[in-house]
Amino acid sequence: MRITARLIVSLIVVVASVAAFSAFFQVRQERLRQQEDIERRSRLLAQSLQESVEPLIEKGAVKSLQRLVEKFGNRERLAGVAVYDVHGAALAITASLASALSQPPRAILEALSAGEDSGEFEVLNGSRVHLYVLPIQDDGKTLGALAIIYDASFIQRQLARIWGHAFLRVLVQTVLIALVTLLIVRWSIMGPIARTAEWMKQLRAGAASAPFEFSKEDLFAPIAKEVSTFARHLAAAKTAAEREARLREKAESLWTPDRLREHVKTKLAGQPLFVISNREPYMHMRQGRRLEVIVPAGGLVTAMEPVLRACGGTWIAHGAGDADWEVVDGRARIRVPPDDPHYTLKRVALSKEIEDGYYYGFSNEGLWPLCHIAHTRPVFRAEDWVQYQAANRRFAEAAIEEIAGVENPYVLIQDYHFALLPRLLKEKRPDARIAIFWHIPWPNPEAFGICPWQKELLYGMLGADLIGFHTQFHCNNFLDTVDRFLESRIDWERFSVIKEGHGTLVKPFPISVAFPAAFQDIPPQTGPAADRAALLKDIGTKAEHLGVGIERMDYTKGVLERLRAIERFLEKYPRYQGRFSFVQIGAPSRTHIKRYHDFLGEVEAEVERINWKFKAPDWKPVVFLKKHHSHQEILPFYKAADLCMVTSLHDGMNLVAKEFAASRDDEDGVLILSRFAGASRELPDALIVNPYDIEETAEAIRAALEMGPGERTERMRKMRQTVKENNVFRWAGNLITELSQVRLEPRTAEKIS
Ligand code: G6P
Repeated sequence: MRITARLIVSLIVVVASVAAFSAFFQVRQERLRQQEDIERRSRLLAQSLQESVEPLIEKGAVKSLQRLVEKFGNRERLAGVAVYDVHGAALAITASLASALSQPPRAILEALSAGEDSGEFEVLNGSRVHLYVLPIQDDGKTLGALAIIYDASFIQRQLARIWGHAFLRVLVQTVLIALVTLLIVRWSIMGPIARTAEWMKQLRAGAASAPFEFSKEDLFAPIAKEVSTFARHLAAAKTAAEREARLREKAESLWTPDRLREHVKTKLAGQPLFVISNREPYMHMRQGRRLEVIVPAGGLVTAMEPVLRACGGTWIAHGAGDADWEVVDGRARIRVPPDDPHYTLKRVALSKEIEDGYYYGFSNEGLWPLCHIAHTRPVFRAEDWVQYQAANRRFAEAAIEEIAGVENPYVLIQDYHFALLPRLLKEKRPDARIAIFWHIPWPNPEAFGICPWQKELLYGMLGADLIGFHTQFHCNNFLDTVDRFLESRIDWERFSVIKEGHGTLVKPFPISVAFPAAFQDIPPQTGPAADRAALLKDIGTKAEHLGVGIERMDYTKGVLERLRAIERFLEKYPRYQGRFSFVQIGAPSRTHIKRYHDFLGEVEAEVERINWKFKAPDWKPVVFLKKHHSHQEILPFYKAADLCMVTSLHDGMNLVAKEFAASRDDEDGVLILSRFAGASRELPDALIVNPYDIEETAEAIRAALEMGPGERTERMRKMRQTVKENNVFRWAGNLITELSQVRLEPRTAEKIS
């Protein structure tokens, strides 16, 4: 039987059973009610006649009795009345019942002998009646009996009517149910199934197909979501396999997520990888009653997320989202990415006091400006240092707990928040292979020397087996710093430091982005120009040319200098007024720190000043979008832009520059890049500028806008090739290879010298 028929039959059986039950109870109740009504009426009539009948029986006034029974015997539904003497001989009977009652029924004789009234239903003359008998007594002596006979056949008729109605109701309901079920099955089930089947058929046939869409309320939406994810995976696997095949053919050796996964599997012998950073890759935030998941802005997450996605493992980070703790398990863990889990995120809780001192204080008011030469003075407070140490200990405990039971675990520590962590871990787990990657620049010894806890920081870092920076220049600065402040031996041949018998390699690993994986989930655009007008209209401006800047709002990013260069460009080349708009996407960052808070205000004021200066209807020179944007929201801007500006005053690498190149699969668009960003070493085909030189940067904007399409393509193609070859999978692969070659020596903890 087909599913539809089964569904209809089941529904009908259920509805019919419910209707039958309810009709059955209704009939039973109606019968009881009618019977009680007849009994009550019989009793009342008998009692009212009793007084008239008694003297007539006594006197033997048969004629009067006959008149009486005829008078009352024809009332509505009353079949008749009869009077008997004490021996059961009939004295008077309503004419219509005379033959049926001339012989007294059993009930009359029983009532006469018991001296008590009685009532029962029986059949008289072929029809159902109720017979009520009341003995007539005088001073306790029975004189005779009065019988009241009611017609009860109408009860049966009424009950039959109820059954009839119930049947009709069931019939109508059955037809309606069958119709509605057929329609629902056709529209909501068979239709979507047919569409899904058609879509899957196309997919199997390899015909390009958009993601499978269903509205959120749709019955099939959860399945569609899963099927779409599944299809995406299949497509990704197919693309990866094709890519691998192409690579093998060309004997190239590009790093892909699959290659990294295999590499890590071999190096780690199937053991999980551990990553520790302050910033987590996914933050759960509460938006009213809704839970939102955001990917925080910043290079570290952009780079590390695809790596963990490819190799799996555990990422230990501070749980900073306001709903983070609502979603983790008993061990503060959650599988991520939320809609397609590949690895475990272990969240570490920090008290507000620790967060203030360690994150806002020592890390971001102390170490950040210390390492970035951007002319913001570092602040070092003893109380922040105490919290920095406490936070490092807290993360060490969490990491020790996670790596328990894993032999020779690989631990990749990230960034300046954890200078003390390598040693804390090494002391507890000398068998662990520990690397720390410093995502920001390392200054020269003079600059670093102002930190009151310089020795402790260096000593902590040297607990690692491997220390990574973006460039050789930062490695050299680090080695010089160690040489200046710590008693140790530096091997300049191998770029390693030997301290208390433990060797630490110091090497450059220029970080990068996923190429092209980070954006492959997003459907391709039709082309930049087509979308540009709509994009600009949405944000309230009209322009022929578009420039973009995408930043975490940080004073090291050179946003104010960039704005001044845009102003200068428009002044110098007024033909671009009304024709060039610059969109600055800025995610507010570390805003509890005064310098960051003020900086945001300064940028806003500067945008307002420039817009006011060039005020024109329908056009804005600068649009400042001050909010966190997801990758999906940023991508259309990257794709639609004529130029992207990265004007950092100082930057370890800067991944916006690489992301811009990775997203331009049309091989168009010009990158203007600060020479003080690490990325400028790898991307010489960008227009390299000194962001402090406003004239030079303004000229670069003009050059970018006036560059011929041939040159633009040539430069972009080269930049894309570099990012493709040196993608983040290669970065992680190299780091892990280097770490796997480290010789571990059993050591004991010693005091800082
Ligand atoms: C830089 C740092 C990262 C940090 C990111 C975002 O890229 O090197 O460690 O995560 O900025 O900053 P935030 O303070 O929001 O984590």
